[in-house]
Amino acid sequence: MSNYHIKRLEEYFQVYRKSVRYPEIFWEEIAEEHFVWRKKWDSVLEWDFTKPEIKWFDGAKLNITENCIDRHLQIRGDKTAILFEPNDPNEEAQHITYRELHDQVCRMANVLKDKGIQKGDRVVIYLPMVPELAISVLACARIGAIHSVVFAGFSSTALATRIVDCGAKMVLTSDGSYRGKKILDLKSIVDEGLQECPSIESVLVVKRTGTPVEMVENRDYWLAPLMESAYSDCVPEIMEAEDPLFILYTSGSTGKPKGMMHTTAGYMVYTAFTFKNVFQYREDDIYWCTADIGWITGHSYIVYGPLANGATTVMFEGVPSYPDYGRFWEIVQKHKINQFYTAPTAIRALAKENLDFVTKYDLSSLKVLGTVGEPINEEAWHWYNDHVGEKNCPIVDTWWQTETGGILISPVPFSTPTKPTYATLPMPGIQPTLMDETGTEIKGNPADGRLCIKFPWPSIARTIWGNHQRYKDTYFSAYEGKYFTGDGALRDEVGYYRITGRVDDVIIVSGHNLGTAPIEDAINEHPAVAESAIVGFPHDIKGNALYGYIILKETGESRDRSNLSKEINEQIANKIGPIAKLDKIQFVPGLPKTRSGKIMRRILRKIASNEMGNLGDTSTLLNPEVVDQIIEERL
Ligand code: PRX
Repeated sequence: MSNYHIKRLEEYFQVYRKSVRYPEIFWEEIAEEHFVWRKKWDSVLEWDFTKPEIKWFDGAKLNITENCIDRHLQIRGDKTAILFEPNDPNEEAQHITYRELHDQVCRMANVLKDKGIQKGDRVVIYLPMVPELAISVLACARIGAIHSVVFAGFSSTALATRIVDCGAKMVLTSDGSYRGKKILDLKSIVDEGLQECPSIESVLVVKRTGTPVEMVENRDYWLAPLMESAYSDCVPEIMEAEDPLFILYTSGSTGKPKGMMHTTAGYMVYTAFTFKNVFQYREDDIYWCTADIGWITGHSYIVYGPLANGATTVMFEGVPSYPDYGRFWEIVQKHKINQFYTAPTAIRALAKENLDFVTKYDLSSLKVLGTVGEPINEEAWHWYNDHVGEKNCPIVDTWWQTETGGILISPVPFSTPTKPTYATLPMPGIQPTLMDETGTEIKGNPADGRLCIKFPWPSIARTIWGNHQRYKDTYFSAYEGKYFTGDGALRDEVGYYRITGRVDDVIIVSGHNLGTAPIEDAINEHPAVAESAIVGFPHDIKGNALYGYIILKETGESRDRSNLSKEINEQIANKIGPIAKLDKIQFVPGLPKTRSGKIMRRILRKIASNEMGNLGDTSTLLNPEVVDQIIEERL
């Protein structure tokens, strides 16, 4: 992406101005220069945010894996594409070259075809961070199947909900997964989930941990022998620009998870462009993003963005605390990592440990540090800057979402001066704005409002799988003609953005989006529970933790409260996953409600955050007396 390898602030402003004034010319030039097309587009952009309908590069034909793999073979065939660092530091790292990746992806693509997977079919991938995860994502893209990766920490119920929603024909999983000292029994979770999934025809199983598994005849197959006997070349399926590439589920504030659907050409162009510029990737750099491919960060900035640039991208199977809290830094030293991209929650957890875990390693290879997933607090920002970057590496605080497909607001290293806790300036082509509560755009600086985007960018999700109306209602109805992010933000005197957090009922815990409604539904299914309300409260490491207010049924009143709390958390772990467990559970006689029966979460949030002096007017509540009782028994 040489022409837009932005290096100075003036250059950024120049590029930015052009991208806003002539967006079609801007993106067309990038698309033309840097990618392989089987046919060029008929139009660069067609859009209507009222429908909403967005098409980028319509009429173009391509295959994204040709761009991520094949075209690198001649010049970078022997370069490492994926560098796999296993959970166990004593197990050897794997360097998978572009040529080997091509071989593996083609073999797996042929296996998928052999099992009846065709263009447009959905394949759910429920795998730990092993090379087969990236390979299966790419194998789907090779043959035009739509992948839906489900984070392998989700429960069997959560997995089944997603499989049913997208009508998947196949699941790819493994016998087990390593997480530090623990082994997770993935295959049995899949088996349990599949009891409710009639659309599944086959299950391919990667052998990783050697955990004994049950194989269902004519449904379950070990992957390795099939790969071995598969043909090592596979002609890529030629896709339309707007053909779906993947579905990735994200929590909504209400109802079931939303299957965000991303399409092919625009997603490729945008993730490749932002990868190059945000991380300032150079040919021989080793880049490491610590996210899991089960989240959008892994899709865009472990797999597609880096590989589209011919980069070396690291995949780490383990956790930051195993075998000790120095693991991240040991890996940085071992592989001479140049760009390191992680989450604020990981930084906060590591900053709590002895500094020796950091200082004993040589981190001088690092050039750029990144964060993503939630606001980074000032203390964590400085710790990262001082001890990891040794004040020598710009920190890119990248703001974006599953829905946006790629980074929308971020500094460009060596060009945008950074400012702690600020994501700073929009990427080229991104037109953010702040709205007030009356729906008016706030002009001028400084400003504080709700963050919207005024103009489409190539990697915006095109719909929610199977529910376009929900897509419209969630993102395009709050403010006419604008994409509403669900986030609040500040804009300082010079126009830098600082994301302050969600303004809806989504709570971000350790960087994971959790909707309150699905958790409340899971709790309410417990036989002793009458009603519940979940709110977030500040937590040192997780950013936010969950506080549950629970009303018991009469039958529950006589039960032991600590047993009940355990059961409720187990229920949440089973229905959603351990990440959604509550840190605090308070059993309450009632919940503060408006006269129309709506729970006043604002009050509950303040109580959970210990801000009782500032509850606002409670006199309009249906049951103001309950507030005092809740405060009295606060945990
Ligand atoms: O609230 C914002 C927060 O994470 C939300 C998106 O979550 P998800 O779809 O899971 O994607 C996370 C990875 C891209 C946003 O609405 N968020 C993400 N990045 C930042 C952030 N909040 C503040 N600063 C960030 N850099």
